Amino acid sequence: MHVKNTPHIKPDNAPIAETVLLPGDPLRAKFIADNYLKNVQQFNGVRNMLGYTGEFNGKQVSVMGTGMGIPSASLYAWELINVFGVKRLIRIGSCGGLSANLDTFDIVIAAATSTDSNFMRQYELPGTFAPTASWSLLNAVAKEAEKQNIKLHVGNVVSSDVFYHHNSEDNKKWADMGVLAVEMETAGIYATAAAAGAEALGVFTVSDHIFKGSDTTPEQRETAFTEMMELVLPVAVS
Ligand code: HPA
Repeated sequence: MHVKNTPHIKPDNAPIAETVLLPGDPLRAKFIADNYLKNVQQFNGVRNMLGYTGEFNGKQVSVMGTGMGIPSASLYAWELINVFGVKRLIRIGSCGGLSANLDTFDIVIAAATSTDSNFMRQYELPGTFAPTASWSLLNAVAKEAEKQNIKLHVGNVVSSDVFYHHNSEDNKKWADMGVLAVEMETAGIYATAAAAGAEALGVFTVSDHIFKGSDTTPEQRETAFTEMMELVLPVAVS
């Protein structure tokens, strides 16, 4: 039970689990709660950044939207960890494919993140911080993927502050460094977790490919999303 409230999360008496799934879209959080969880309680509605706690396989897990971009996602991650005692954050999102080995709807995991953001400057480190995934979460998802016969692409993902790049070569430069995909939140979530001694993992479906282009149907997107949820939920409650 939480009697604490923050400027952005007001659970009143609703619980928040030690593991929280973080989609970018708050309506995605509602969809997950409605379709995958039992005995659901809403723990947040501030700014419509919906958060829910429920049960999967009889164990408690929460799901909450983050909004888009490192500043939004990281402030929710910070409050969940540092105020509400959350131990594990699993971002479930979409990404733009950069690697030629990726196709739309493939699943990508960020073992490490690169970024064009200045977020890390706050830590005043004497060098460049490398925000990385929790090994125990990554290992657990890899084992679950093997069990379910799901192919994963695990590697470096760039968390960009920019969606509409002024310089059209930006994404190609990351691709040339072997970076698999681009999204906009995970480096901030990993760094926030690292600074607080918590664990974090980013799992994505490729919603579009930056160089190959993509032509997808709502049914294909739904199937890909379902596959990612069925991969991540057993790990979230393990
Ligand atoms: N850029 C940034 N973030 C994304 C993209 C993209 O192309 N696709 C999905 N998330």
